[in-house]
Amino acid sequence: MSEAPHGNPIKTPGQLFAAVIAGFAVPIVIIVLLAYYVDNGTRTGAGTDGLTEAAVSQRIAPLAQVDIRDANAPRVYKTGEEVYKAVCFACHAAGTAGAPKFTNAADWAPRIAQGFDTLWHTALTGKGAMPARGGTSPDDYSDYEIGRAVAYMANNAGANFADPPVPAAGAAAGASGAAAASGAAAAGASDAGAAQAAAAMAAMASVPQAAPAPAAQSADASQAGKALYTQVCQACHAAGVLNAPKYGDKEAWAPRLKESMDTVYNYALHGKGAMPPKGGSNASDADVKAAVDYMVSAVK
Ligand code: HEC
Ligand code: HEC
Repeated sequence: MSEAPHGNPIKTPGQLFAAVIAGFAVPIVIIVLLAYYVDNGTRTGAGTDGLTEAAVSQRIAPLAQVDIRDANAPRVYKTGEEVYKAVCFACHAAGTAGAPKFTNAADWAPRIAQGFDTLWHTALTGKGAMPARGGTSPDDYSDYEIGRAVAYMANNAGANFADPPVPAAGAAAGASGAAAASGAAAAGASDAGAAQAAAAMAAMASVPQAAPAPAAQSADASQAGKALYTQVCQACHAAGVLNAPKYGDKEAWAPRLKESMDTVYNYALHGKGAMPPKGGSNASDADVKAAVDYMVSAVK
């Protein structure tokens, strides 16, 4: 057999010829295959997939792309949990900057007492270190989605809020924060006002009646004003419950501040319309005036 140790495998001129050809051809084939292998990913000519539509449009795509959304397309709303995880989590997970902590019933109980609508409005307009809409824009998260996040967080800390009503198609699209929110409230039902009033009353019921008086003597007036505002007045004035002029809202305050400060103090002390005397508290006159100053300074 040809494998025999002393046998020459090439016995005929034909075999010699074949061996010479193979000796040249095999390395060349290997080189060609290697070259093809190395080059394969970057080849762009015919016979590769470099000319497919996807590959070409990827190569010629402009640097900045504009994502055109069809305003009429049905919007897919994020769930409260999704919004929470994407946005609110940043502060509310750990209680950063004094944020009520996720699932912490003690942090949330007094806030839940304000009722869903108030919390929703606060989340839309911001409050203290809480940025309006958690710092997002209405294009990213609609009022409705922010509301769902509020319900999600509150419900994880003991509340039993239903999601806000699904907005009518296109309703939340253009309108910005507070405007859309109050629009939604107005459109929602005529008893929205009643619900707000109930929420305000619930909040006030949780206010300790004689609270800030002792502290006020040592602290300076602006401290006392802020303290009283936080404890009492914000129940209505933070979100504009019962049409109270909203804290920080220049337009709401401007017509009122055309009157003399004495008149404004008087309204706060003795009540006006749905505004109860001293906001329903029995704080000292000086503290109520300081709270007015605190609110007024926010719109100057
Ligand atoms: C940058 C930090 C931060 C982010 C982000 C943030 N919050 Fe807050 N949030 C706060 C702080 C701080 C408070 C406490 C404000 C206070 O009581 O003065 C707060 C309070 C709240 C309250 C209670 C308001 C009240 O009346 O006491 C709600 C509701 C709320 N946040 C909702 C949200 C929602 C919904 C998101 C996400 C869309 C969000 N927050 C994202 C910091 C944040
Ligand atoms: C139960 C809700 C509620 C509470 C709590 C509340 N307010 Fe008001 N406040 C209102 C409403 C409603 C108005 C608008 C009244 C109107 O114009 O008819 C108002 C108006 C005012 C005005 C403007 C009056 C004017 O027209 O010049 C001042 C000042 C004021 N409140 C101060 C306070 C202070 C200070 C506190 C806390 C000590 C407080 N409010 C607590 C509901 C409330």
